[in-house]
Parts: sequence; C-alpha cells; structure tokens
Amino acid sequence: MDFSNPKQRDVFFEVHSELPREGPGNKDCTARALSLAGQLPEAPSILDIACGPGMQTIHLAELLPDATIIAVDLNKSMADEARRRIASAGMSERITVELGDMASLAYSDATFDVIWCEGAAYNIGVERAIRNWKRMLKPAGIIALTDAVWLRKDPPPDLAEFWTAYPDMNNVESRQQIVKECGYKLKGNFILPETAWWADYYLPMKSRLQTLATRYKDDGEAMSVIDECSAEIDFYERFPDYYGYVFLVMSNL
Ligand SMILES: C[S@@+](CC[C@H](N)C(=O)[O-])C[C@H]1O[C@@H](n2cnc3c(N)ncnc32)[C@H](O)[C@@H]1O
Repeated sequence: MDFSNPKQRDVFFEVHSELPREGPGNKDCTARALSLAGQLPEAPSILDIACGPGMQTIHLAELLPDATIIAVDLNKSMADEARRRIASAGMSERITVELGDMASLAYSDATFDVIWCEGAAYNIGVERAIRNWKRMLKPAGIIALTDAVWLRKDPPPDLAEFWTAYPDMNNVESRQQIVKECGYKLKGNFILPETAWWADYYLPMKSRLQTLATRYKDDGEAMSVIDECSAEIDFYERFPDYYGYVFLVMSNL
C-alpha cells in the first residue's frame, strides 16, 4: 500500500471508516486487562491514547463509572467519530476527545492513574511509547496496551513477509523484557482470543471490502488496496496460531 498515493490512501480510509473498532479487542479483554491492573483509585483519571473510533474508551467508561477520561488521536476524522459515539452513549461529560500525537503529548507530569492504548503503540514502538509516557503517570500508575506478537517461531514465509510491514514484530518474551527494562513492573499479560479479532473488526471489515470490491471492480489502484486488506484477513483466517495480540499491563512501580 502506498500512502503517498492519494487514491490508495483514500480507499484505505474508506475501508477503515465507520468500523466498530480499528483493531482487535472487545469489552471482555478490556475488563480482563483492568482486573490485572489491581485496585485503582475510586475516580481514576485515564488517558486513552490513539482512541480511534472510541469503542474501548466507552468500555472503559462503562467499566469504571467514576473515571474521567481523555481520549486522544492523531487523526481528526477518528477523533470526530469517537466524539460522536461518546455523545450518543451519553458520556461526553466524563470523556473529552482531543487531537494529539502519541510521540509528543503535552499533558503535565504525574497526571494520570491509567494510560490505555489498544492496537496503536506500534506507531512509535512499544519501547519508545512506554518510556515517553512514564512521566505522565502518577506514582504506581498503570499502563495497559496491546501489541501484535509472534506466537510461534516458524511462521510460513508468506506470512512473515506480510508482517514485515508491522514495525519490530517480536514475541511476548521480548515485550515482557522491554517492560522490565523501562522500569515497570509487569502486572500480567494475556493473548487476545480469536473472537476479539472477528466480531468488531475483521467481520465488519470483510463486509465493507465486499461492497468496495463491487464499487471499484474496474479500478486497479483501488483494487490493490482492497486486495491487500483482504489478504490481511485471509492470513489471520489461515494462521491464527502463529500470531496474535498481547495485552500487557504494567505499573509504574
Ligand atoms: C489500529 S487503530 C486503533 C484504534 C483504537 N484504539 C481501536 O482499537 O479501535 C490505530 C489508531 O492510532 C491512531 N494513530 C496513529 N498514529 C498516531 C499518533 N502518532 N498519535 C496518536 N494516534 C495515532 C490512528 O489514527 C488510529 O486511530
């Protein structure tokens, strides 16, 4: 996929607009990660980084009814969509949506009890992310994030080649090591179940791709994007044992 090509970029965003979520995950996983975090303050302040369309933001607010949340994303259309969904869930008073780059967030030191980031830390790399974000955590604050990992050492060559597009894909042990090296205590981790890839992510994307494949059947450039997105789903259908998403929950000691 060539993001410098405006046509390809537009079609990619057409594939990825108005999906329930923009990555694997579900409410049960968010709840399980929260339970690994242990006891939180009664009314925790939470920063949800790269909130996308905001589904996990809303789940966090439902699971922690006294929390106040800032949800931040680099992409204006994602932030707008999150704001719309949060408003229609009646949660605008507790959740503020802002634009911001995870590489240079300007919140003050020791502001948040919890920093959340589902499916997005790869944009700057997990190590850089958790080093950068540490200063914004209160003492004993929590970071919870998901990241793609290899679950087996012997991926088929076509699968390994496809995932070279994902920066620095490694295994769970390497992620646990990074957590330790960055001065956090790992509170726990788990691999997201396969259902968390399908219900709110790949199934709606599959149906969107079918619609767009009909619309763009005579447009080679658009079809190359559609084929690449479809290939991603086909790989997961064929090889769910080889890779997955790990939820890592860590505390600022
Ligand atoms: C794979 S999506 C995950 C979104 C959401 N957390 C979810 O699981 O549905 C990645 C998100 O990261 C956002 N993003 C990419 N680079 C970013 C950056 N540097 N700072 C903040 N957000 C970023 C994108 O706009 C997108 O919404």
